[in-house]
Formats: sequence, structure tokens, C-alpha cells
Amino acid sequence: MTVQLRIYMKNALNATVPIELPSVYVIEFSPEIRNEGPAMKVSVKDNKESTFSCDVLILPLLENQGIRAYRDIDKALDGLPGKTISSKEFSGRHGEISLLHTQGRINPERVLLAGLGKKEDITPEKLRQAGGKAASYIHSLGIRHAGLSTRTIEPLHISPVVFLEGCLLSEYRFEKYRKEADQKGLKDITVLSGKDIGKQIKWVETAARAAYLARDLVNTPSNDMTPSGLVRAARSLKKVSVKVIERKQAEALGMGAYISVAKGSLEPPKFIVITYKGKNIAPVALIGKAITFDSGGISLKPSEGMEKMKYDMAGGAAVLGVLKAAAEMNLPVHLIAVLPATENLPGGRASKPGDVVRSIDGKTIEIISTDAEGRLALADAIGYVKKFKPSAIIDIATLTGACSIAFGNDAIAMMGNDDSLMAKMKKASEETAERVWQMPLFDEYKDYIKSDIADLKNSGGRTGSLITSAYFLKEFAGDVPWIHLDIAGTAWTDKDKPYIPKGATGIGVRLLLNFLKSL
Ligand code: BES
Ligand code: MN
Ligand code: ZN
Repeated sequence: MTVQLRIYMKNALNATVPIELPSVYVIEFSPEIRNEGPAMKVSVKDNKESTFSCDVLILPLLENQGIRAYRDIDKALDGLPGKTISSKEFSGRHGEISLLHTQGRINPERVLLAGLGKKEDITPEKLRQAGGKAASYIHSLGIRHAGLSTRTIEPLHISPVVFLEGCLLSEYRFEKYRKEADQKGLKDITVLSGKDIGKQIKWVETAARAAYLARDLVNTPSNDMTPSGLVRAARSLKKVSVKVIERKQAEALGMGAYISVAKGSLEPPKFIVITYKGKNIAPVALIGKAITFDSGGISLKPSEGMEKMKYDMAGGAAVLGVLKAAAEMNLPVHLIAVLPATENLPGGRASKPGDVVRSIDGKTIEIISTDAEGRLALADAIGYVKKFKPSAIIDIATLTGACSIAFGNDAIAMMGNDDSLMAKMKKASEETAERVWQMPLFDEYKDYIKSDIADLKNSGGRTGSLITSAYFLKEFAGDVPWIHLDIAGTAWTDKDKPYIPKGATGIGVRLLLNFLKSL
């Protein structure tokens, strides 16, 4: 819902007419940007499992280790969990689950045996997935209050908080367009541990809620998630400042590449600049592709599957998520985030193949395909942030179909001009399992995007297009340390994953937060 404040006056004929206010005076109120996600409480308690009152106590179990780790609970339950294992109904295989009622023998009403897999195969990601599976199962039963035992995880030298992270990430649902929303879902989850893990919990919870925000923004269809919708989302963030450059001003600044994408649409483009200053240092620039719908423009896409092109702003959504979490956690970083938001539609004024446009840094670009619009918008965003002398530029974008051809749903393509920066990104990607894989930017790729009449062309054709799209951006980054992340394959999933329900994945939020932490 948008509420607009209107002021009326009497005209010469004594009729009441609204005064046309410039949009800067329009007060917008958008309860649909929830910003918080499910109202689930997470806490930590140094409590014995059997005396903790809850609907379900989650007992993570290693494969083929019997019930040894939970002797006391097994005894209190008359050997029922042990029997479930000896009868081979549950072996502890990764992702396996078994629910038992406790019939009042211990305080938790039920115990949920959650398989972690073999001890030697355990990784943080395996734990995250096991957490996701356990929480999805609990969700499907409509159970509200959960406790999590940490005694089998703590000896593995992996934080049990990773299991919790999987639980939190899997609890996301997108229900705002249904008459009857899913009312199920955990109300609270308590980690039973004597360790000092409060800070870690705060981190994963804040990051998970930031990923919820990103998923919400991406799942929201383009008729609601317009460039102006993204502005509202940006303004819903606390402790950041938001500036919006409108079409006219963007033209005046020389952003001919970005503006050329917006020409076919009646929806006003919004070049959104968000600043968060947690420390007085040179900023890191985060640029998110924010095409709220990519029809391809005059180089129209085939209609099959086009409905998914609402997710072409997933990079922008990830950046908003990162700012939300960074500000909430008071991270000691300085961030300048830019979302060059617009739709890409065909229309009477739309850019046409063959047109030449001029970018903010003066380079001219021949538009070969109006469907290679992301790099046009990003080129001006990169040119714009360079004025702030950033120590690094990170762009994140659903840039190429070739990215999902190469990597499927399971890796982000990474390219850049600074090896040590990319090494940090790689490390953050291993920690979060939002995995990046580097592709080369050999000088030879420059030839692919040479134009016969302009400085560059926006498409080098199909061969090598994952790389040539990045090479195009590299020409604008110049000598500023820069990383490009192509999330076209990872920002959306057609199938439920262990801790990602189908739809928008929120990819990039946890990756970039961990990356920023490492700086
Ligand atoms: N937004 C698309 C890329 C995309 C495709 C993202 C499928 C997610 C799923 C991008 O703007 C695009 O259309 N890229 C073209 C570039 C080509 C015309 C050089 C592509 O990859 O086909
Ligand atoms: Mn496109
Ligand atoms: Zn696109």
C-alpha cells in the first residue's frame, strides 16, 4: 500500500483541485516491505536437554554411532531412540529425520533425531543443510517451540550456530500474495549450550534476516517491485542515508548508458545511492544490478520463462540486504551502495540495436543487443562510484544466461582485476557456501567487444559471453580494485534446497557480509 499526501486548493472556478506536488513531497508508507522476516526468536540457554520444556528437542546424530551421545535421554525414554536406531529406522544419514513423542518422560514433548552423516564427511555446509532439513520438517508439522542440543556438534570443532543458520534460512516463506497465508512456522528456537555463542548467533540471525529481505524483494513481482519500490526498500533501512538520482539528473550527470536502458519504460528509473559509514575510511563500493524486469527490450526475449525476469534485480536486493545487516551490526566499514534501477522494456522511445550511447566516463558504447542491458547500467554505476575514490568496487549482478549454462545453480562466477581481493572473496565464499568460481579475463577478450564505430560494443555475441560481459565492466573499473560476481545461476532456484525454499535464494548477502568482515 502506498499512501500519498495530497494538498488541495480552490481554483478560479472555485473547484477543489489537487496541487501538483513534486514527488519529493510524496509521503510513502509501505507496510509490505517487512524488512524483518518471520517473528522467530533465537536464544541460547545453558540448560540440560531433558529439563528444557519445548514442543520438540532437536538431537543431531552422527551416522552409525548409535545413541551413545544421548545415553541419558535414551534411558529416560525407555530406550525408544536407541530402538529406532537398532531397528534401522534411523541410521543418522545426512538429512535423515525421525520424530518420537516423549509421553511426559522428559520435558520436551518430542525429540527429533536429525542425521548429520558420517563424522569424517562433516563440513559446515553439511551441518547447515541438516539444520535446514530439520527445520523444514518441523515447519511442516506446525510445531512452534524448539530446542537444539549441541552436544554432538561441539566436539566436531564446528560451531553449532551453523546448524542454527540452516534452520533460520529454511524458515523463510513468501506468502504476501495469498488470501490464506501459511500460518505455520517456528516461534522460537533455543540453542542449549554453555558456550559463549551469543555474538555468533546475533551474526547469523542478522544475516539470515537480511537474506529474507533480499528474497522478499526478488520474489515480489515487478508490478510492485518497481524502481520506486526499491527506493522504498532502501528508505526502510536504518542508520543509512539514501539519495535518489532521477532520470533528468542522471542525464545531466552523463549517464547515457544507464538511461538508455530506461527509455522504453514509463516507470521512472531510480539511480539509488545508499551510504553507511561505520568507520571513517575510504569506502567500499557495492553495486547491485537492479533491472526490476528484463524483457530484453527491442531485442525481446522469448516469452517462455520471461516471468522469471523479475529476478533481474537480485544483485540490488543482495546489496540492500548487506546494508541492512551491516548497519544493524554496526560493522566498522564504510559502504557506498549503488542500485541503478530501471525496467528494460520495448517501447516507442526504447533504445534500438545499433544505437550509440555515451557513458559517464565519456566512453561511447554501441548497443548491439538491448538485452545486454545490465552492463550498460553497471558501467555508469561503476563510473559514478569512482568519484568517491573507493578502495574497492564489488558488483553483483544477474548478468548472463551463460553463467547458469556454465555453473548451473551452484556457483557464482567471479572475475576481477585484483587477485588478493578475489582471494578474500573466495575465502568468504567457502565459509558461507555461497560459492564463487573464478573465470579468466585474458587481454584477448578485449577484441570480442570492439565496435566498428564506438569505443566499445555491449555484446560480443554468444561465445565467451560470461567472460566478455565482465571484460566490458573491467574497462570501466580501470585501475580501481574490482570484483564482478555473476549470480544469474544462483539467485533463483526452481526446486526446494535444504535451507532455501524455491524461488529467490537471497544469494550474495551472507557472502558479502563475510567478505566485509574479512577486510
Ligand atoms: N538478465 C539477463 C541474464 C539472465 C538470463 C539472468 C537468464 C538470469 C537468467 C541479461 O540481461 C541478458 O539478457 N543477458 C544476455 C546477454 C546477451 C544478449 C549478450 C544473455 O546472457 O543472453
Ligand atoms: Mn537482458
Ligand atoms: Zn538483464
